[in-house]
Amino acid sequence: MSRDIRNICCIGAGYVGGPTMAVIADRCPEIEVRVVDLNAARIAAWNAADLSGLPVYEPGLDAIVGRCRGRNLSFSTAVDEAIAAADMVFLSVNTPTKQRGVGAGQASDLRWVEACARQVATMARGHTIVVEKSTLPVRTAATIQAILSAAQQEAGNTTFSVLSNPEFLAEGTAIRDLEEPDRVLVGGEDPDSIEALTAIYARWVPRERILTTNLWSSELSKLSANAVLAQRVSSINSIAAFCEATGADVQEVALAIGSDSRIGPGFLQAGPGFGGSCFQKDILNLAYLCESFGLPEVAAYWRAVVELNTWQQHRIARLVVGKLFNTVTAKRIGILGFAFKADTNDTRQSAAIRICRDLLEEGAHLQIFDPKVSPEQMAVDLGLAASPDLAVPDGQGSWQAVHSLEAAAEQVDALLLLTEWRQFRAIDWQAVAQRMRRPAWVFDARAVTDGAAVAAAGLHLWRVGKG
Ligand code: UDX
Ligand code: ADP
Repeated sequence: MSRDIRNICCIGAGYVGGPTMAVIADRCPEIEVRVVDLNAARIAAWNAADLSGLPVYEPGLDAIVGRCRGRNLSFSTAVDEAIAAADMVFLSVNTPTKQRGVGAGQASDLRWVEACARQVATMARGHTIVVEKSTLPVRTAATIQAILSAAQQEAGNTTFSVLSNPEFLAEGTAIRDLEEPDRVLVGGEDPDSIEALTAIYARWVPRERILTTNLWSSELSKLSANAVLAQRVSSINSIAAFCEATGADVQEVALAIGSDSRIGPGFLQAGPGFGGSCFQKDILNLAYLCESFGLPEVAAYWRAVVELNTWQQHRIARLVVGKLFNTVTAKRIGILGFAFKADTNDTRQSAAIRICRDLLEEGAHLQIFDPKVSPEQMAVDLGLAASPDLAVPDGQGSWQAVHSLEAAAEQVDALLLLTEWRQFRAIDWQAVAQRMRRPAWVFDARAVTDGAAVAAAGLHLWRVGKG
């Protein structure tokens, strides 16, 4: 007999929790979905009357929140109440890489997950299904289970079961990925709980796309999927560098290899290196786990994917300096795009951060334009306050956020395109060239510009992977 779910609580109103719960509420109007978070400012933003102010920018998300909020979807800081009312609790809290202590720089920091498990253990009533949504190291479910079963023994009348239901959505396409997922993965041991969660997804996902596995396979599948995707990006970026050295064009190579049905065309777009909250964190975590399980060769294999990515970012910064006569001190450079990919305001691990920091280190003045990233976020990421002045006396670079492509091009020696926002694909290069100082360069790290139009405007062009 499957358990009937009437009340869902999701702890964590971030990039995963917010969109996922909005879609569940939309597809299951009779289920009450409460999204809770300790961060009051974030919750206030989810409740903002103006839907353009939601804390997560995702195409289509505002419409869904608009029709569900106040009906069966709510956002609040009342974590305890929401847990007590819930039949099912999703853990969607952050699991960043540890900054200190054992495993620093590699292992995932599980303090927020553990705090949540303890809170669920204390506040839950009756039978509660706890669902791991955050990406977690393999066997985290055992930790959660241990905390919950201690509470179970103490209280007597509460029972728990733990499921792993990793989220595969990609930012920028989150709503489409949630509404039409390639697959949904549900890992667990208790068949009734597995069926309860499966029944929710089955409202809109064909049953054959809902895979059930044991807990550990589910946890490991999430890490592995991200590792393999990131590996494809590093593979094509390594080939891009080789193309530049040999006169080949990585886009032609990607088309040629992607046409092999065994390889497939996806995730072969060369660029400035992968960013986002998952890839690097998950690979480092995977490598760390491999090492702790006595598999150093496997760990080294996956770490190389991250090392190649870091190298690609430094390589692009070095290349810009090289083309600009080996010095960018007190030169203006326009940066087009700061988000880690198009259609998101997220900058976590964005390639732009490392590349901009390298250029600042060389003394450049950056005029940064991103249609969705706030200047405050840029300041946090760059670790430097904005300033309209060119390099300060000690040679330290400077930066300012600007509000248009035209402003980013004003008086610059180069434009560096780092995020593939749609508006950067159709730039009027003749008009932009008028604003730049000559000789002027366009560095296209996403290979989205029209090379002939750039050349016709009298600009030099470097495009990733084009020799
Ligand atoms: C990723 C996974 O795709 C998703 O399944 C998982 O749930 C979370 O991590 P996300 O980080 O949101 O999603 O974005 P994704 O589209 O995977 O892109 C990651 C990075 O790789 C971006 O910086 C992107 O620009 C880069 N990338 C992607 C490339 O450089 N080339 C490609 O061909 C694809
Ligand atoms: P993700 O990309 O995985 O969604 P985010 O950092 O965007 O990650 O969101 C995670 C959210 O979880 C944050 O808003 C954070 O405030 C919230 N959070 C972390 N720990 C707790 C907790 N114990 N109770 C409630 N919310 C929490």
